[in-house]
Amino acid sequence: MQKRSSFLAGLAGLLAAATALPAFANGEVNLYSSRHYDTDERLYSDFTAATGITVNRVEGKENELIERLKAEGANSPADVFITVDAGRIWSAQQDGLFQPIQSEVLNAAIPAELREPEGHWYAFSMRARVIYYDTTKVNEPPKTYEELADPKWKGKVCVRSATNIYQLSLLAAIIETKGEEAAKSWAQGLKDNLVREPEGGDTDQIKLVAAGGCEIALANSYYWGRALRKGEEWAVEAKDRIGVVFPNQEDRGTHVNISGAGVAANAPNKDNAIKFLEYLASESAQKYFADGNDEYPVVAGVTTDSPIQQLGTFKSEPVNVAVYGKNQAKAQEIWNAVGFK
Ligand SMILES: [Fe+2]
Repeated sequence: MQKRSSFLAGLAGLLAAATALPAFANGEVNLYSSRHYDTDERLYSDFTAATGITVNRVEGKENELIERLKAEGANSPADVFITVDAGRIWSAQQDGLFQPIQSEVLNAAIPAELREPEGHWYAFSMRARVIYYDTTKVNEPPKTYEELADPKWKGKVCVRSATNIYQLSLLAAIIETKGEEAAKSWAQGLKDNLVREPEGGDTDQIKLVAAGGCEIALANSYYWGRALRKGEEWAVEAKDRIGVVFPNQEDRGTHVNISGAGVAANAPNKDNAIKFLEYLASESAQKYFADGNDEYPVVAGVTTDSPIQQLGTFKSEPVNVAVYGKNQAKAQEIWNAVGFK
């Protein structure tokens, strides 16, 4: 089924190229995106082939694009803003960078916890924050986020800095489900278990496990998928050494975050922007969108070719991801209070 639909999509692309459709016939859509993956070319060209709408792209780092949108204000040509992490997207929403839309297509395709309740933004792929462990040293790895704070793992855990949005969003979710007090003692326990002061990004923590410098790490799922897909030497060597646990499968589910998008506040091509978002929820677009960064599709039943699929399916936490933004300041306060760098 999957092969067939990508074949058809390919055929559509070829036909469009062969007949040289005037791409501007149905106008354009301007994307501001912090994505830049190999699969994006097909993602965008398929949309143009299907609708005749030209896709113009401005690519940049997450926070640079946010600053640019703010600076452009009412004169911004942006129709759609695509970026990662619900905490960051929520902040952009608070800055007035999105407008709410109504779409039956999006409401039907995207689970409720993965979209902003008023339609300001939607998740189009997701990543899980998972536990990596050294199978040569650990027989019974932690099964939950809570266990990462258990003193039995003292001096064995590595995690990136708490100033990073992924760690803020994770703690924000814990505040929501377990309350501030429990969140604070968890943050303290995690800090007490660190093998070293936080340094580097998520991949560096997984690499440290691979190199035997840390027994347990916490990092997003796609970093491992990406390293395996690219056949990076350290990952190929460590493939059997590194184990992966989806935390909290027996209770609330694993913490997930998103790549998301919404219609920009001053979109000059609003109708095309909505069409583009609805396209992102289609099966073929879901596959490209998720595969580009080894993420998981958000639409039920869609799978990808990423090595991350070999880890199997998992249950994700049912908390609405918008909560990561709402609790972000409190999360930062707690990380600071326990002295987590
Ligand atoms: Fe990342």
